Amino acid sequence: MDTKDKLLKNNSKTQLINIGRQHGVTGMSKKNGGYKNKNEIADLIIQQVKQEVKQEVKQHVKKEVKQEVKQEVKKEVKQEVNNKVINNVNHNTGDTKLTFIDLFCGVGGFHQALTDLGCKCVLACDIDKKCCEVYENNYGIKPIKDIKHIDEKNMVDFDILCGGFPCQPFSNGGNKKSFDDNRGLLFDEIMRIAKHKKPKFLFLENVKHILKVSDGKVFEYIKKRINDIGYKLQIFKMSPHNYGIPQQRERIFFVCVRNDIYEKFNDNDDADDADGLTSKIKLCVENKNLTMEDLVEKNVDSKYNIEPTLKNVLDAWDELIKQFDVGEKISPTILINDYFKNYTDEEYNQLASWRKDYMTKNKPLLKKYDKIIKPWYKKHKELLTKREIYGKLEWQTGVIKKNDSIYNYFIQMRQSGIRVKKNKYFPTLVAMVQTPIYGKYKRYITPRECARLQSFPDTFKLHENDRVVYKQMGNSVNVFNTYTVIKSTFKHYDIC
Ligand SMILES: C[S@@+](CC[C@H](N)C(=O)[O-])C[C@H]1O[C@@H](n2cnc3c(N)ncnc32)[C@H](O)[C@@H]1O
Repeated sequence: MDTKDKLLKNNSKTQLINIGRQHGVTGMSKKNGGYKNKNEIADLIIQQVKQEVKQEVKQHVKKEVKQEVKQEVKKEVKQEVNNKVINNVNHNTGDTKLTFIDLFCGVGGFHQALTDLGCKCVLACDIDKKCCEVYENNYGIKPIKDIKHIDEKNMVDFDILCGGFPCQPFSNGGNKKSFDDNRGLLFDEIMRIAKHKKPKFLFLENVKHILKVSDGKVFEYIKKRINDIGYKLQIFKMSPHNYGIPQQRERIFFVCVRNDIYEKFNDNDDADDADGLTSKIKLCVENKNLTMEDLVEKNVDSKYNIEPTLKNVLDAWDELIKQFDVGEKISPTILINDYFKNYTDEEYNQLASWRKDYMTKNKPLLKKYDKIIKPWYKKHKELLTKREIYGKLEWQTGVIKKNDSIYNYFIQMRQSGIRVKKNKYFPTLVAMVQTPIYGKYKRYITPRECARLQSFPDTFKLHENDRVVYKQMGNSVNVFNTYTVIKSTFKHYDIC
């Protein structure tokens, strides 16, 4: 059956008109000479979507492409038109499994967890082209591009809605603009769909700061909206490191249960709900018991080694660390170039106050080791002044220990300096390009190791570009945490 046949078979005339409107098809209204018949509307939709897709493909393919590439593109356009149109129509899967829609799907952390629990995905959505490529490559579903294009009145039915809605407006990495930022409002898109479709469960995820931004008003808003559309909310603060996965990544999971289901399974215990939250579901306690050594790849390509200049910088700092006394406290960030710079009073006064504060606090330590630090700085000055961050050391591993070394830890090159972190748990993977260094092996962690830290199986096909993988994994949910939350919910509600 081709795209048009499917479109005609699965939709009434009204539904077709809605799909047409959703794609901005013009000339279908009564005003323009009465509604066209189903056949004509279907043609118009396909024509319009073809144009959309061609436009999108054009942006990615140079004009002077060879004939065979043109053929490929044509095939892709056909496939994409099919996916785009069919994705938006109601189709009965005839299956008894719980079905889910994966909003803001990224590379599919939720998908992975939910299919592990026997559920079936019926629609996915993400605006990022590369995430969509990876998603389709792994799960055979082409995500719809923008959540705003989903017409809640004319979409597939489903039991579960899941979504790790964009966290930049709320995270520490972003600038915490919260709901003033357009992306903050994407939460409302979830509510729009859930309010109309009324699935059994909503599973949402976000950064932990979401509870605090705008003095808690954002969280109050989220809670109220979830309650208003007829769901009971329970939240879980989770991090992989609490479940035997060596990554510290605190996140909030929002579990929303439709009121009728909640009431069927729980006693009416009002005290529990006084703040609009419940605490009925108990988390499963399964623990993976993994250490970093269980996750590292063997025989790693030398392209992941630290580049020579950075290696020299870390060696230089290591030389100094080794000369500090055991028990020495190194905080806050050492600004070594500032210590040796002869600022005039005027220049000094113009420095940011945090900088002046650090410089004052650095003085006692640097003075104490004056005899060591002066010749050390003279030897490495050229290197340490090459880039501003080379001269800043953020030592976050506690006091100096016996046989201490910078290479005993995880290292991240951040705008704020060279951050050295404890080695038990990997620092949170983030979407920005700050690939962490595993000091022990003097190399960056590999894309596959990132995927393992996020509990994706080794069968998961990663994007071919490493930088893209680092970003995607930094954005993803931890699959095992997600699995734990959903499995615990299912257990409480007698689903599996
Ligand atoms: C925090 S990530 C979610 C990652 C996902 N949970 C995973 O496991 O990979 C948020 C996602 O929302 C997507 N996004 C942002 N705006 C969107 C929109 N208007 N419609 C659909 N997706 C959008 C981003 O591209 C990003 O992949």
